[in-house]
Amino acid sequence: MKITVLAVLTTFCSVSMASFHAPWSRPFTNTSNTISDSLSCFGPVQKDFYYPRANFPKWLSDITGLHRWPGLSPPYVNGTNFNFSGIPEGPLYTQQSCNVTSHSQCSFDCDLCVGPKDIRHCNYLIQTFDDGPTPDTPTLLHHLHKTGNKASFFVLGIQVVVYPDVFRAMHYEGHFLASHTYGHRHLPSLSNRDIVAQLQWATWAMNATAGVIPKYFRPPFGGVDNRVRMIAERLGLTVIVWDLDTNDWKLTDQSRTLVDIFDQIQVWKTANIHGILLEHDNTMISVDAGIEISNIVGNGNITAANCKDDSAAWYG
Ligand SMILES: *[C@@H]1O[C@H](CO)[C@@H](O)[C@H](O)[C@H]1NC(C)=O
Ligand SMILES: *[C@@H]1O[C@H](CO)[C@@H](O)[C@H](O)[C@H]1NC(C)=O
Ligand SMILES: *[C@@H]1O[C@H](CO)[C@@H](O)[C@H](O)[C@H]1NC(C)=O
Ligand SMILES: *[C@@H]1O[C@H](CO)[C@@H](O)[C@H](O)[C@H]1NC(C)=O
Ligand SMILES: *[C@@H]1O[C@H](CO)[C@@H](O)[C@H](O)[C@H]1NC(C)=O
Ligand SMILES: *[C@@H]1O[C@H](CO)[C@@H](O)[C@H](O)[C@H]1NC(C)=O
Ligand SMILES: [Zn+2]
Repeated sequence: MKITVLAVLTTFCSVSMASFHAPWSRPFTNTSNTISDSLSCFGPVQKDFYYPRANFPKWLSDITGLHRWPGLSPPYVNGTNFNFSGIPEGPLYTQQSCNVTSHSQCSFDCDLCVGPKDIRHCNYLIQTFDDGPTPDTPTLLHHLHKTGNKASFFVLGIQVVVYPDVFRAMHYEGHFLASHTYGHRHLPSLSNRDIVAQLQWATWAMNATAGVIPKYFRPPFGGVDNRVRMIAERLGLTVIVWDLDTNDWKLTDQSRTLVDIFDQIQVWKTANIHGILLEHDNTMISVDAGIEISNIVGNGNITAANCKDDSAAWYG
């Protein structure tokens, strides 16, 4: 019930829709559907309002000098005293220019290279969901609530401020919440300052919305190298990638079917293969897949934090 009250009190800011168009999400229409059938314990969640609804708190104004949530590429804020010393300003590479990287950069997206502290494997078979919260997330939450299983979510700061009530529901339900950056950029393409901004703004959004300060982060597109790792580590963030890809995003263009995915999961489950499953909670069909996969692998309170250490804390 607490969530319902928060949702009703949320104020609406007047920020242009265009700057909040997220290219990796399905197109949003500006209708006011509700999905009250899927999460009755939290009250109706407004669907398809694609502009920030989380309050911009005073403490954040005090740090940043801003009064509203930024777009996909938030500014680096002078005065947060991030220590840039010893972090090289490159070399930069884009998703199209892996040919310019060297092995000493230890790039995950180019070379599947994993840093000594990165988490890529798990002694359990666990589900992780990227790119939420979205209007489809509550359907997944509702199912997990019924079965008592916890999941791991790597959330985008910009989605958190657009769907704060969904993010609060994820937290209320006790799921493991970590950062997927603010605006889903390929971090190795960015300057040090812009990487810091992507990580800090995601933490600020999660903290402002549900009091969560993440300790783990997953780089969008798996884009991480030693430069990005150094910056993340100074912000107290440990990298979590994945080793078992469901390729659930291919459900959208039907190049992969639900049956293909379930067959693969059954094969892994039957062979007792452990690892970190990559999934998404940003389309209804990938949420449907997540629910069925949960019925196959669901394992109570085991989350991505348990891949490091059974007693690891989830948040800072
Ligand atoms: C979207 O809907 C809201 C609520 O009805 C309205 O205030 C807003 O102007 C709409 N935005 C656009 C771009 O149509
Ligand atoms: C932040 O500091 C840099 C370097 O000192 C300066 O170039 C930039 O203009 C400053 N930005 C703001 C918004 O004050
Ligand atoms: C910044 O980091 C460098 C390298 O780790 C360290 O030597 C230096 O003392 C740090 N500076 C501050 C002000 O913390
Ligand atoms: C790397 O690939 C890009 C894009 O295909 C190309 O423009 C560039 O010349 C290549 N660089 C090297 C050093 O091969
Ligand atoms: C988290 O939010 C509190 C206010 O609720 C603030 O005092 C604190 O500095 C924030 N911490 C971070 C890391 O953003
Ligand atoms: C689940 O694990 C987390 C992290 O170890 C712990 O904080 C939480 O109390 C556990 N919840 C239950 C229901 O066991
Ligand atoms: Zn993503």
